[in-house]
Amino acid sequence: DKAGHKHFMSKEIAEQPTVIGNALAYYLDGGNIDIPSDALDFEQVDRLTMVACGTAFYACLTAKYWFEQLARLPVEVDVASEFRYREPPISKGTVALFVSQSGETADTLAALRYCAEKADRIVSVVNVPESSIARESDLALPILAGAEIGVASTKAFTCQLTVLFLLALKAAKARGTLTDDQIAKHLADLQTMPGLIQQAMDLAGPIRSAARQLAEARDILFLGRGLMYPLAHEGALKLKEISYIHAEAYASGELKHGPIALIDKHVPVVVMAPRDALFEKTVSNMHEVMARNGKVLLVTDRQGADEAGDGAWKVLRMPPVSPTLAPILYAVPAQLLAYHTAIAKGTDVDQPRNLAKSVTVE
Ligand code: M6R
Repeated sequence: DKAGHKHFMSKEIAEQPTVIGNALAYYLDGGNIDIPSDALDFEQVDRLTMVACGTAFYACLTAKYWFEQLARLPVEVDVASEFRYREPPISKGTVALFVSQSGETADTLAALRYCAEKADRIVSVVNVPESSIARESDLALPILAGAEIGVASTKAFTCQLTVLFLLALKAAKARGTLTDDQIAKHLADLQTMPGLIQQAMDLAGPIRSAARQLAEARDILFLGRGLMYPLAHEGALKLKEISYIHAEAYASGELKHGPIALIDKHVPVVVMAPRDALFEKTVSNMHEVMARNGKVLLVTDRQGADEAGDGAWKVLRMPPVSPTLAPILYAVPAQLLAYHTAIAKGTDVDQPRNLAKSVTVE
């Protein structure tokens, strides 16, 4: 049932305020994060290894920034298909964390089984609570996104981020790296997310008009720095999955180490840049793109638009958001860009060619 939407993907994008709200209601008990400490005690942990595929992998890459910055916990992230065959050493103080919407992805499950006898704890962040990955974990944390039918993952991604952020705060509390006040502030910010996502949905109009032109492109680049770097990857993945346009993500700072050679007037460049501490650095990379006639679509907030919007091909003005939580909010324009570009091209949004919703063979 598409609830009046043309596609499951647009329904699932629109559901994000509700499902994130559900996840918050499930995990927050007053100011407390309700994740059992006896099942996962971050005081005892000295390393976190996160493993996943596709979109879930980009959720892990985002969470790495959170665990490192907020909880000062060393984190390793890898795609499951590489991790499982590399025979990585796993020390006893390691928590191995697996993120999977379906809970049935073959490579992720194999990586979990590799860690089973070695890691201190096997934790998973899953959407399907009765899945193999959930069942084989010491602790399975549901993301409560509800059934996700569209092959391109949308609401599962933002719910994964929500749960991973709560987990990072939980770690910060146990390790004493944030004060109670700081944690309370992050939680208050997180609780504004459903409302902010609802506001970001209003950008569908300008995104649709940009998408009509993006649909003509052969290649599209996504740039981001810091927390926007994993999201740039997610934006590029979404776009290539459903519009079949070649899209690549780069860390903004890597531009001059090679990819800038690709830039000319035919290459649109999506720059994800809220007005955060790294904004000016990203803007300077954006100017390098403009100087080579690259067509910049800048996704930023009002302040960012005022400071740096001149010369951009298009500017999407997002609601202001705490920089730490920006990846959850900025996922929405990334999803909508892919969706409307695919619509403009006339591709099959919910069932893109060559892809399966759940990859149960390697
Ligand atoms: O079910 P999982 O989260 O384990 O699936 C992982 C990937 O196959 C999945 O995220 C895939 O990349 C999506 N099609 C992305 O939109």
